Amino acid sequence: MDAVAELNAITDALLGVPSAVLNRAINYFANPARLSDPDRLRAMVSGKTVLVTGASYGIGEATARKLAAAGATVLLVARSEDRLCDLAASINAGGGRAFAYPADLTDESVVTALTKQITEKHGPLDIVVSNAGKSLRRSLHDQYDRPHDFQRTIDINYLGPVRLLLGLLPVMRENGGGGLVVNVSSVGVRVAPGPQWGAYQASKGAFDSWLRSVAPELHADGVDVTSVYFALVRTRMIAPTPLLGRLPGLTPDEAADAIAKAIIERPRTNEPPWVLPAELASVLLAGPADRAARLWHRRLSAGSEAQR
Ligand SMILES: NC(=O)c1ccc[n+]([C@@H]2O[C@H](COP(=O)([O-])OP(=O)(O)OC[C@H]3O[C@@H](n4cnc5c(N)ncnc54)[C@H](OP(=O)(O)O)[C@@H]3O)[C@@H](O)[C@H]2O)c1
Repeated sequence: MDAVAELNAITDALLGVPSAVLNRAINYFANPARLSDPDRLRAMVSGKTVLVTGASYGIGEATARKLAAAGATVLLVARSEDRLCDLAASINAGGGRAFAYPADLTDESVVTALTKQITEKHGPLDIVVSNAGKSLRRSLHDQYDRPHDFQRTIDINYLGPVRLLLGLLPVMRENGGGGLVVNVSSVGVRVAPGPQWGAYQASKGAFDSWLRSVAPELHADGVDVTSVYFALVRTRMIAPTPLLGRLPGLTPDEAADAIAKAIIERPRTNEPPWVLPAELASVLLAGPADRAARLWHRRLSAGSEAQR
């Protein structure tokens, strides 16, 4: 029996309820929707210029649609030119305002040209949603000859967004305040990291750490920072790990709502309610957490094939 079937059987047998019902109940507690108020969102972003990275798929696409529907001019960044152009066309056809900026954020010269072009055409941005990213789950056993795993995750999850912001922030800080950077991140940077996710979590953690470090300087320059931590969102990113399909997750539109809520309220962080206790527990109960990670790895993950 594979790990997913085993997990299904265990949950069904233990609780005597179909796992779809169980999933819905767990979803409610583990990954609740973080709803935004559409009127407040409109008041906050209407007439503003918002850049969304990773807008060609998943959370970024849903966020761009939501912000455009609320009256923002959205600048769409990702590599997939066709998808960005289709999205911009669909937003513009619906009465919104969107511009496609195809770009590979791992290419320094491309990012330099992109920030120059955007600044010349749109002036200082009001909001940057740093969402583009790449996930990777692979056992260390399969990574000894794959140093590029670490390079490509750090390139898009850390260095890419840093380069982008280095190009955009100087103009934003001259704009007299009100700017916002939204960091779309993972709960894994807040709690004990799970086995096989090292390359991904280290790269997401690097950007998170950098942004927390510069946040006070940015605040003094009139630019706020808010980080939105997701547990699981049902996008193409989770497809290579079938087990994740069994766990509680948000839809991309629900994730976009959490980002919209963060844009309205500008909290330092936005996360599911269990993250803070889990974060505390991962410090206070570091030993048992390590043992649980070892058990989890042995029971469910060992022997599974490397993904992506
Ligand atoms: N899904 C989850 O469960 C989950 C959980 C926690 C955090 N997150 C975070 O949420 C964010 C969005 O993920 P998602 O789930 O929406 O995944 P997704 O559907 O795979 O979207 C990822 C986006 O990033 C873009 N991207 C990747 N490499 C790029 C590059 N080199 N240059 C420019 N754009 C690039 C992709 O566009 P192109 O391929 O067209 O370039 C795509 O638009 C990520 O930062 C991820 O770490 C996701």
